[in-house]
Amino acid sequence: MPDLMNVNTSESKSTFLSSRVHALELTPLGVKLLDQTALPGAVQYVDIHTTREMAHAIETMLVRGAPAIGIAGAYGVVLSARDHFVSELSEEELREAIRTDLKRLAQTRPTAVNLFWALHAMEQELDAPLDTAADLVDRLTRKAVQIHEEDIESCQRIGDYGATIIPAGAGILTHCNAGALATGGYGTALGVVRSAFARDPQVHVYADETRPRLQGARLTTWELVEDGIPVTLVTDNMSGALMRAGKVDVVVVGADRITANGDTANKIGTYNLALIAHAHGVPFYVAAPLSTIDMAMQTGEEIPIEEREPSEISTVNGELICSPGASFYNPAFDVTPARYITGIITERGIARPDYVESLAGLFRT
Ligand code: MRU
Repeated sequence: MPDLMNVNTSESKSTFLSSRVHALELTPLGVKLLDQTALPGAVQYVDIHTTREMAHAIETMLVRGAPAIGIAGAYGVVLSARDHFVSELSEEELREAIRTDLKRLAQTRPTAVNLFWALHAMEQELDAPLDTAADLVDRLTRKAVQIHEEDIESCQRIGDYGATIIPAGAGILTHCNAGALATGGYGTALGVVRSAFARDPQVHVYADETRPRLQGARLTTWELVEDGIPVTLVTDNMSGALMRAGKVDVVVVGADRITANGDTANKIGTYNLALIAHAHGVPFYVAAPLSTIDMAMQTGEEIPIEEREPSEISTVNGELICSPGASFYNPAFDVTPARYITGIITERGIARPDYVESLAGLFRT
């Protein structure tokens, strides 16, 4: 069964970056996205007006990170409803037009289950009986905002549960970016870091740079420096040396999809990290909301892994870094088998092995 210890969720979070900077925001005119491809060089926003633009923003990773992609998908459905809400369309035609846009959003990125979870929730709203077509726009908007707000709450609870497993003055290693930028706000793995830091300013984060797109270097260091949380950047191939030197007390990462047995897809390189942590006896935790847990999949073998453009690995800042004659393999995610995971930190508590039992238990509470 999950650890359901009492946690203090009322700790002050208002001083953190996530209360000032938002990865996504629904506005009367569209959705304002913080352009994550421009960070840390520039803090700039892009206004998204249509579902097509939202799908493109997800594909090109202006918005990224599993929970944030889910929220972006839900807001994309709202944009569709606003766009198609014209008096000439019958109620059924309006629903059909939104369904077509919803399918386009579902084609953007395959691995993070939060996208499909959020689109499914929006589809249920779409299918429910209505008084008027205007009700549909209102209802979809309310649902999307609810998904966003609940994600922030979940992250704060994950942070507070997670802080309980961080030793005093710990060195915490993380991979990729599972922060405020990757969620509705506050973050999952970085939510744990934030809550731990609020209790103990002696904690120290090691951030893997996270090739090929450098989310650790570009985004995680940016978030932590903005919050005054001590962070040291390391390249992905340094984690073994770092653990051997005794600098890492715990690894905490996010997740894109967790299957019913606890196998976890996360950014490519997470699996290597889990193996190295296992070899050194360092606890390895995954932090994720229930919306990342896919109980319909039994094992990690079933998870679709996104493969991205070869140019992400063949170039750095637009410069070719290898022979053009090489071939390329660029999976964006890998799967860490459940046996290497010490615990899965969720908004309902910390699941421990055996995950088949403990994850199912989380959905019953
Ligand atoms: O390709 P990205 O940047 O979307 O990948 C992000 C990750 O792998 C994160 O660790 C994961 O989505 C969890 S975010 C809370």
